[in-house]
Amino acid sequence: MKDFVYYAPTEVVFGEHSEDKTACLVKKYGGNKVLVHYGGGSVKKSGLLDKVCTQLKEAGVDAVLLGGVVPNPRLSLVHQGIDLCRKEGVDFILAVGGGSVIDSAKAIAYGVPYDGDVWDVYLRKYSPDKALPIGCVLTIPAAGSEMSDSSVITNEEGWVKLGYSNNVCRAKFAIMNPCRTFTLPPYQTAAGVTDIMMHTMERYFTQDDEMNLTTELAEALLRTMKESVFPVLENPCDYRHRAQIMWGGSLAHNDLTGCGVTGDWATHEIGHELSGLFNATHGASLAAIWPSWARYVYKENVSRFVRFAVKVMDIPNDYTDPEGTAIKGIEAMERFYHHIGMPINIKELIGREVTDEEIKEMTRKCTRNYTSTQGAFKVLKAEDIEAIYKLARG
Ligand code: NZQ
Ligand code: ZN
Repeated sequence: MKDFVYYAPTEVVFGEHSEDKTACLVKKYGGNKVLVHYGGGSVKKSGLLDKVCTQLKEAGVDAVLLGGVVPNPRLSLVHQGIDLCRKEGVDFILAVGGGSVIDSAKAIAYGVPYDGDVWDVYLRKYSPDKALPIGCVLTIPAAGSEMSDSSVITNEEGWVKLGYSNNVCRAKFAIMNPCRTFTLPPYQTAAGVTDIMMHTMERYFTQDDEMNLTTELAEALLRTMKESVFPVLENPCDYRHRAQIMWGGSLAHNDLTGCGVTGDWATHEIGHELSGLFNATHGASLAAIWPSWARYVYKENVSRFVRFAVKVMDIPNDYTDPEGTAIKGIEAMERFYHHIGMPINIKELIGREVTDEEIKEMTRKCTRNYTSTQGAFKVLKAEDIEAIYKLARG
């Protein structure tokens, strides 16, 4: 069993009207001059941005605003944010939105105290030991950035999407009001649930399968997401099920389901290249890859796939045919993705067949110019990654 450190320092304030505590929390964590960072307009439309800004004003906290974060957040806006924070003397960043806004906020937070280009952080040329403090008001359960140590940024030069993890960027607080997710379109809801489940599955499919408590927690999380997504797709204002999904999103990526196990992030890494090249929605890119990854690797630990099939996907265990049971679990996951409107291959994701040249380009980027492997359940070399893209072609 793997030794581990569990570190989840973010103060979570969960429930209806929880955003009323925003100004109070900003002050608690030392914010006097705040950058309020947001996306493409959903928080304006819902009135959340106005509500938060009014509250900050009434609490005597100065704020400057920077919107325009897009899904798969861009480095150019991060640069703008860094300049703005320096010019205005910002000492706290408040992200109001989803994973993209929070990740952009984390990148700005790294960049403000650093003299060089913040992209160095993502290239691992510089390891920050400080960052501006950030807090968030979450509007979409998906990426789990509100409690994770990660940030993923896309550099428009070459469309390179890179993630970086460091505890110094963990949010001081995360405000989560499930009502704020009622306005999510079905596609974003489904992509979010897919991402949440994948954060759990990338930890679940491990060769260190001795930490049974972690495995049981992961299975409970996966079953709960599976059961909660249909009620919210039917009734977007179903508070009870929106709440399960919102809390699930944080628990799936604050490493609770990773204690004592070695994760395998191959589906994420292979999927990131689809987001980088085709601007695909993150969660959907994972659904397009996972079935092919699973078929490619399941023989490395058939019993883990059998357990997944039986305990998560409700497949009867055929003791005479473990491989058959494992495959039925993968097929059931594909049916689930289709039921919630997710793709199960690249053609369904981007609307056309991916070319051999595009597969080669994504393989090159995914292996950092053929210098690294991906995954741990089965360590994938460039030829394996290329084979998975081809299997996922559709
Ligand atoms: O920009 P607005 O107008 O706000 O619209 C957003 C966006 O179009 C919309 N949305 C968000 N909340 C809404 C809403 N629409 C209506 N009502 C609401 N309440 O949803 C769209 C997607 O938002 P985004 O922030 O991009 O979603 P998500 O949270 O899925 O974040 C995706 C990004 O996070 C990265 C992904 O790679 C991707 O770039 N990830 C970050 C991780 C981390 N930091 O730990 C881990 C993940 O694996 C992931 O890689
Ligand atoms: Zn993810």
